[in-house]
Amino acid sequence: MFKKWFSADPIKIAYERLRIAGWQGQLPLEWLQVTDDGGQRQALLTLPFAADESFLAPFRADPVLSQCLWSLQLKIVKLANTQPELPLLYGNIIVVSSGKGGVGKSSVSVQLALALAGFGAKVGLLDADVYGPSLPTMLGGADEKLQYSAQNKIIPHQRHGIWVTSLGYLTEANAPAIWRGPVASAALQQLFRDSQWPQLDYLIIDMPPGTGDIQLTMAQKLPITGAVVVTTPQTVALADAEKGIEMFRKVGIPLTGMIENMSYFECSQCGHHEAIFGSGGGAAVAQREGIPLLGAWPLAARMRAALDDGVPLAIQDPTDPLVAVIRDSAQQLAMQLYQQATDKP
Ligand SMILES: Nc1ncnc2c1ncn2[C@@H]1O[C@H](COP(=O)(O)OP(=O)(O)O)[C@@H](O)[C@H]1O
Ligand SMILES: [Mg+2]
Ligand SMILES: [Zn+2]
Repeated sequence: MFKKWFSADPIKIAYERLRIAGWQGQLPLEWLQVTDDGGQRQALLTLPFAADESFLAPFRADPVLSQCLWSLQLKIVKLANTQPELPLLYGNIIVVSSGKGGVGKSSVSVQLALALAGFGAKVGLLDADVYGPSLPTMLGGADEKLQYSAQNKIIPHQRHGIWVTSLGYLTEANAPAIWRGPVASAALQQLFRDSQWPQLDYLIIDMPPGTGDIQLTMAQKLPITGAVVVTTPQTVALADAEKGIEMFRKVGIPLTGMIENMSYFECSQCGHHEAIFGSGGGAAVAQREGIPLLGAWPLAARMRAALDDGVPLAIQDPTDPLVAVIRDSAQQLAMQLYQQATDKP
């Protein structure tokens, strides 16, 4: 039996008092459904964004809320994006961008995509890095060519539970695509439009590094829900990250968050941490720019090795503490994206 709320119901009061890291204020009461059938009360939390089972941990830890038996249900909604006139065929589109190459944009794209898929979301990944498409390496299957449907649409590869297309599947392996300017922009838009994506919840686009014409054209032409900027704590990378932020602001794309990658070095021998690129720079930029910091990921040899093998850590060893760091960022991303798109000032 669905239970109507009485204002003095201790479950309601405790629910509205609970605070979730990254969520502003109380969670909407309509997300909660408590049923009472005489035994232990069942609490069902229905979220409009992707979430990990660990989202329920604070509920289960609360002295009052823990009286219920908690379960989670996802009903991921399509949020507003920058091109309201285009049909929303591809779910919520998140562009992952960086002011310069080599900061881990592709690593972040791949691992966020896998984490969201791990939460139960349907996730696509588009490798739009014309300068160095690396997703076929990181997800494996670099020598597989893309297949076309009867309608001449590109059929994305399925790798580790996500759908992927990449220029790397279109060009000869190891032969860098030297597409530039308008040709590159057109090829990328085609890869986006002329692919037979399944019904996705999220499509993550690994953008080319920098803030040139290709990036600007893509930012203006695609229906984007939000942008993630990846940086390292190094001063030069931070300056480039600021340029990227400025570009997104100029074209009206919401900045959903920043990831500080290679935030510190995690020694594989003893586990000690060392801030080889300086520390706290990404957090400082995020704060100054008013952008949520979704996470700080260490520089760790096993993360690189796993990506080089084409089998990311989340697949190799889901219990690795690094995977928990990534999952946490993915959780923040899904939540911030929703909050940003539904926040009515
Ligand atoms: N946090 C990390 N720890 C260890 N190696 C990393 C990390 N992030 C990225 N790398 C490695 O650094 C290299 C560059 O990363 P990549 O994601 O390709 O950067 P970008 O896409 O920005 O050019 C890759 O070899 C990748 O495996
Ligand atoms: Mg890359
Ligand atoms: Zn050490």
